[in-house]
Amino acid sequence: MNLDIERLRADTPGVADVLHFNNAGCALPVSAVTEAMVEYLRLEARIGGYEAQESMREAAERPYSSLARLLNAAPDEIAVLENATRAWDMAFYAVRLQPGDRILTTRTEYCSNYIAFLQRARRDRIEIDVAPADANGDVDLDAFERLIGPRTRLIAITHVATSGGLVNPAAAIGAIARRAGIPYLLDACQSVGQIAIDVEAVGCDMLSGTARKFLRGPRGIGFLYVRRSMLDSLEPPFLDDHAANWISDDTFEVRGDARRFETPECSVAARIGFGVALDYALALPFPEAEQRIRMLADRLRARLRGLPATDVHDLGSHRCGIVTFSNAGVPAERMKAALARRRMNVTVSAAEATRLDLVPRGIDRMVRASVHYYNTVDEVDRFAEAVAVITQPERITA
Ligand SMILES: Cc1ncc(COP(=O)(O)O)c(C=O)c1O
Repeated sequence: MNLDIERLRADTPGVADVLHFNNAGCALPVSAVTEAMVEYLRLEARIGGYEAQESMREAAERPYSSLARLLNAAPDEIAVLENATRAWDMAFYAVRLQPGDRILTTRTEYCSNYIAFLQRARRDRIEIDVAPADANGDVDLDAFERLIGPRTRLIAITHVATSGGLVNPAAAIGAIARRAGIPYLLDACQSVGQIAIDVEAVGCDMLSGTARKFLRGPRGIGFLYVRRSMLDSLEPPFLDDHAANWISDDTFEVRGDARRFETPECSVAARIGFGVALDYALALPFPEAEQRIRMLADRLRARLRGLPATDVHDLGSHRCGIVTFSNAGVPAERMKAALARRRMNVTVSAAEATRLDLVPRGIDRMVRASVHYYNTVDEVDRFAEAVAVITQPERITA
């Protein structure tokens, strides 16, 4: 099956208003997602929130079965939370670690995850090992494996960093984790929806992600996959009457499925919208969507590299839809504002987002332009032309 770009764009009303290269921030939603949510909110207003939920139970439950299909997991291995950060946190803080235990990660670990590592290093006196990168920027897998020692209790990596096109070798790291028998937590926030992920092939035990980026779902939704065989060993950091049953005055029992990581209250409208977004993603010819994202990003990198005083910063031998660049004469924030005046959306990535990667490379701020399959070659070319105009020396001084 071929990707029908015209249909994809017709399903995406936002493309008529903006050239949206901020898909790694929040993609433009499919119109069916927005419509399902608005319709549900109207129903809530008409008949009451709990009653609306009851009458739309199947649609509200859809994220569990559809995510399970997308990731090759089972519905009871899926939890739906309010964002990817909390999803990741619920897994990470559930891993029991003693003083002297070690976590192994890479240089591209997401800022919030690394702050959580540091908190546990200070509070629980654990140690953090960071695998080096090779000359290409890829994680050095031999060095990674050599860092595993008798006290290594968790491997936690980010599949695609927030601030660069590099794709970490999630499956190769999964194979290492399995050989060593160490639990493996994958932050797939920037990869689910742009790169096919099969949790069996990747070999991860826990995986976190979001609805709003490459899955094109609503804001305010994150999710967590936890392998069934791991569930009993992971006690959530918080419990409530959704995560556990109060079975006698003095006892409770944590529920057996991944919903032990959830809280009871949620936006049902967002869940319904997420279910629609997932079904849209499942209906796409996926390898083609992934290839198209890569083709558009490669073209954008090539165009930007051809501009004077412009550096493209993405490393690695396998790259995705995130393109990062800077220009010697136009600071990233100014570039973002100048592009916004032309109705072109990008964001700025700061060094603190992935300090261990960016600070040693002397990068403080970069423009992040992230493409999706619904973007076009024409948009890439118009964008590159706009950057060329914005960075002309006579304009910079003017
Ligand atoms: C790699 C990565 N992990 C986690 C997150 C956090 O996701 P959320 O904002 O949904 O909590 C982000 C957000 O940009 C991210 O890029």
